[in-house]
Amino acid sequence: MTKQPTIRLNDGYDMPQLGFGVWQIPDDQTVAAVGTALAAGYRSVDTAAIYKNEGGVGRALREAQLPRAELFITTKLWNEDQGYDSALRAFDESMTLLGLDYLDLYLIHWPVPGRGFYLDSWRAMIRLRDEGRVRSIGVSNFMIPHLEHVMAETGVVPAVNQIELHPMFQQSELRAFHQAKGIATESWSPLGRGAALDDPGLQAIASKYDKSPAQVVLRWHMELGLITIPKSVTPARIKENLAVFDFALDAGDLAVLTQLDRVDGRTGPDPLTFS
Ligand SMILES: NC(=O)c1ccc[n+]([C@@H]2O[C@H](COP(=O)([O-])OP(=O)(O)OC[C@H]3O[C@@H](n4cnc5c(N)ncnc54)[C@H](OP(=O)(O)O)[C@@H]3O)[C@@H](O)[C@H]2O)c1
Repeated sequence: MTKQPTIRLNDGYDMPQLGFGVWQIPDDQTVAAVGTALAAGYRSVDTAAIYKNEGGVGRALREAQLPRAELFITTKLWNEDQGYDSALRAFDESMTLLGLDYLDLYLIHWPVPGRGFYLDSWRAMIRLRDEGRVRSIGVSNFMIPHLEHVMAETGVVPAVNQIELHPMFQQSELRAFHQAKGIATESWSPLGRGAALDDPGLQAIASKYDKSPAQVVLRWHMELGLITIPKSVTPARIKENLAVFDFALDAGDLAVLTQLDRVDGRTGPDPLTFS
């Protein structure tokens, strides 16, 4: 298999650019799905406390018996556990389920600005990083004001902001802000949960390279320098989604994909109101 690219985070750690997402995979199916992904060559896995499958991820990691240094594991702090002490407790619970002695990346899952605890949660993340229990700390679904607030109050720039991002919702303003501040952008729902894959322009590009529309979309994330984590429980798709390192899109292809952006393209909740 072609060597997989990594993205250097602002704290010096390297994160695989393409990983495996496990949202909506039931715990008992997660062992098989993550096992298939690891066997196919994925080394980065994205879970969260609220996915209720950290235990399944942990089992799959143990069964695969890969060197710890090759793996890059992300989990996330759930909204109800926000706050300084509760975040530290929630972290311990996630680590017990994962069965790891350190985590690669811990994210605040949503800002939940109405509750006002994300700054306290961020201070807890900084402590976990300083104690060496987490290598990299970041956030998810943060908008520019939330990022500015944590950076101004703590002086610590999140390594990553994991946000909804796919051809129908390209987030160019937030991406530009990330780039200016040295925050890596990680795309969730990179395939738009399948929504954009029927577009005729995208299908024409796929035929040109003898690739699937999903592979073209994942290649687009790679060429934009984004980190991403497609999810699948289908073994053939798990392999297909990793086979995106042997072709490149040209400027014309990228222009076709740029045209798919929609102001109302968001499929998930609005981070300003989601709690
Ligand atoms: N931070 C957050 O708030 C947040 C929110 C949402 C998601 N995420 C993360 O992002 C990951 C990915 O997002 P997602 O699961 O919402 O959506 P996604 O990866 O964009 O799409 C997953 C869907 O596409 C299908 N699919 C996968 N590969 C395909 C292919 N090659 N061709 C056609 N269809 C394909 C899957 O079906 P099958 O499984 O049936 O194959 C599944 O229905 C999640 O698992 C999670 O780790 C984070």
